[in-house]
Amino acid sequence: MTTMESLIGLVNRIQRACTVLGDHGGADGGGALPTLWEALPSVAVIGGQSSGKSSVLESIVGRDFLPRGSGIVTRRPLVLQLHKTEEGQREYAEFLHLPRRKFTDFALVRKEIQDETDRMTGKTKQISPVPIHLSIYSPYVVNLTLIDLPGLTKVAVEGQPDTIVEDIENMVRSFVEKPNCIILAISPANQDIATSDAIKLAREVDPTGERTFGVLTKLDLMDQGTNALDVLEGRSYRLQHPWVGIVNRSQADINKNTDMIAARQKEREYFATSPDYAHLASKMGSEYLAKLLSRHLESVIRARIPSITSLINKTIDELESEMDHLGRPVAVDAGAQLYTILELCRAFDRIFKEHLDGGRPGGDR
Ligand code: GDP
Ligand code: NA
Ligand code: MG
Repeated sequence: MTTMESLIGLVNRIQRACTVLGDHGGADGGGALPTLWEALPSVAVIGGQSSGKSSVLESIVGRDFLPRGSGIVTRRPLVLQLHKTEEGQREYAEFLHLPRRKFTDFALVRKEIQDETDRMTGKTKQISPVPIHLSIYSPYVVNLTLIDLPGLTKVAVEGQPDTIVEDIENMVRSFVEKPNCIILAISPANQDIATSDAIKLAREVDPTGERTFGVLTKLDLMDQGTNALDVLEGRSYRLQHPWVGIVNRSQADINKNTDMIAARQKEREYFATSPDYAHLASKMGSEYLAKLLSRHLESVIRARIPSITSLINKTIDELESEMDHLGRPVAVDAGAQLYTILELCRAFDRIFKEHLDGGRPGGDR
């Protein structure tokens, strides 16, 4: 792995270890850990219901494991951490709420997400702000933290409280208002971009558009004779990053169990052969979006390395003194987690210093 990959991987593992300790999000507790979690970037998908959020996340990961479909399917935030492992390692997934179980069958991962959602909300159309935490370890992923969120809606449906519209918006906002959250704003191409819930919220929390990526799904569902070039070429709504068009699997594809490889192939062919989009083909599609995001993430982390390093050093100091006090009653697990974070922080610091010593001053920029 390159130095950057190692650093991002460590950042990811530190985030994970902080989560296990329950300090994620910085909502509670003092000290450097919540601050550390918040200093690290994550990517959240936002958009209207059934705009294709879960489908886009799945394509980025390259695995089928998320519940998808019409209506309100995603009813709790899913914090998904991708950890790149060495070539040849077996892929597996692990839930925070089931720490000793390694999932190698991704269909069972999907089932567990559904079951764990129901456990909190019942088999209703209710939502819960309590996240499900899932880690995927694989040689084929890039180191990333992705967050799948319930869709923004305009009206409550039968079985939902009247406050649901606001509840969902507030929940989604609590993730994307964090300055280190990269926003994947999903809008379906078969609806007017001027009515996009994703763009409306993204504009509110990120007015300059520096951390927003506009993603246009369902290009295949546009009316005959129309195209999305005004959006994709940045004339309808300009963002600092280029728009990416996507063709996910349709409901019919899902019902037929079309797999990821076939879906990607179909998407590639769609762009390559489209009279409207062929000239943009190399900058469209799920694979391109995944690359774009990981490149962006790398540059964000690179720019933040000085502040992350100083936070990490502060965390090391705090944790060392905390470890000194481990005589007092501390849960064994918590002690072990603190130790893990400490080790990860030390590793980050060491690799970072080697990187500086080995490279030109200021790194390999
Ligand atoms: P979410 O509610 O935003 O997470 O959306 P989902 O990913 O669950 O997708 C909702 C529905 O739209 C599913 O039936 C998908 O098959 C379908 N869908 C999503 N993206 C596309 C697309 O690009 N093209 C087509 N034809 N259908 C899509
Ligand atoms: Na949906
Ligand atoms: Mg969803």
